[in-house]
Amino acid sequence: MEKKNIDWGNIGFGYIKTDERYVSTYKDGKWDEGGLTQDSMITMSECACVLQYAQTIFEGLKAYTTEDGRIVTFRPDLNAERLNQSAKRMEMPELPTEKFLESIREVVSANAAYVPPYGTGATLYLRPFMFGINPVIGVKPATEFQYRVFATPVGPYFKGGIKPLTIRVTDFDRAAPNGTGHIKAGLNYAMSLHAIVDAHNQGYDENMYLDARTRTKVEETGGANFIFVTKDGKIVTPKSDSILPSITRRSLMYVAEKYLGLETETREVYLDELKDMAECGLCGTAAVISPVGKIVNHDDEICFPSGMDEMGPVTKKLYDTLTGIQMGRIEAPEGWIFEIK
Ligand code: PLP
Ligand code: COI
Repeated sequence: MEKKNIDWGNIGFGYIKTDERYVSTYKDGKWDEGGLTQDSMITMSECACVLQYAQTIFEGLKAYTTEDGRIVTFRPDLNAERLNQSAKRMEMPELPTEKFLESIREVVSANAAYVPPYGTGATLYLRPFMFGINPVIGVKPATEFQYRVFATPVGPYFKGGIKPLTIRVTDFDRAAPNGTGHIKAGLNYAMSLHAIVDAHNQGYDENMYLDARTRTKVEETGGANFIFVTKDGKIVTPKSDSILPSITRRSLMYVAEKYLGLETETREVYLDELKDMAECGLCGTAAVISPVGKIVNHDDEICFPSGMDEMGPVTKKLYDTLTGIQMGRIEAPEGWIFEIK
């Protein structure tokens, strides 16, 4: 199959319209059969629940071309599971896992010409999402929903590829205790929009959010979890019930232990301990692992010994192993790779 004429090595993380997307509608208590459409536009009532009360959830995963030319996705069953956790918390219908996997299969297959070739550094980003579509004016959930998946080829999430980032500790909160920080609801990202514009205006790449209750513990950024490497080589990642349970992070913790023989800890991480860490990274589907060189906390600067020029050595090993598994250079644990036939 002939690939599209795109300068794969130079695309950023933006929207490029592809040929086909999947849509399925939930009405009268059930999902319709669903299928592909070329229509990228959505028509809905001005009073649709998603527009008035932000009843929308989403997922993010990628399709990769492997070294031997296959097209694969990475652990999509976990995205299906997380979508359903989000749906439950947002009073939306669950989507059968098989339907989710089928939607991914169909969208990737139909847009195979947009899956970036191996070795270009680009990937096909997939965005499954579900929203309440019927008119609702009293505050209550919708009764009709759409589930969709579109695909867009993407390059690195942060400009500059894998150059270490400078982030700041923000005074804004992203998620409330007992709120929705642990699910992938659009409203969490709406909360972060002002904070990210402000961070960029001040010259920072991202925000580090703290726990809203005590403001002493590290949570996550607007779109990725944190991992830290201690000076004795242990991988530490924050435990919190108000952050998104990152699939990349869960995979990295496994890889660290089982492939690299490193000790790992998921525990509360205090802002006070960051000065003692050797390396820091942001992890997620979009971020992959993006190294952090410096964290600015008001008048205080934490500069990691790994510096501002390149990824720290342990972060690099994690990065190489994870991307090696995703691109088929390293054997994956059972069930991690979902091949698109
Ligand atoms: N945290 C937030 C707020 C995110 O939006 C994402 C992206 O999906 C992540 C963490 C990373 O999650 P995953 O590794 O499953 O993509
Ligand atoms: C992802 O990594 O898939 C996300 O949803 C994060 C978003 C900031 C693009």
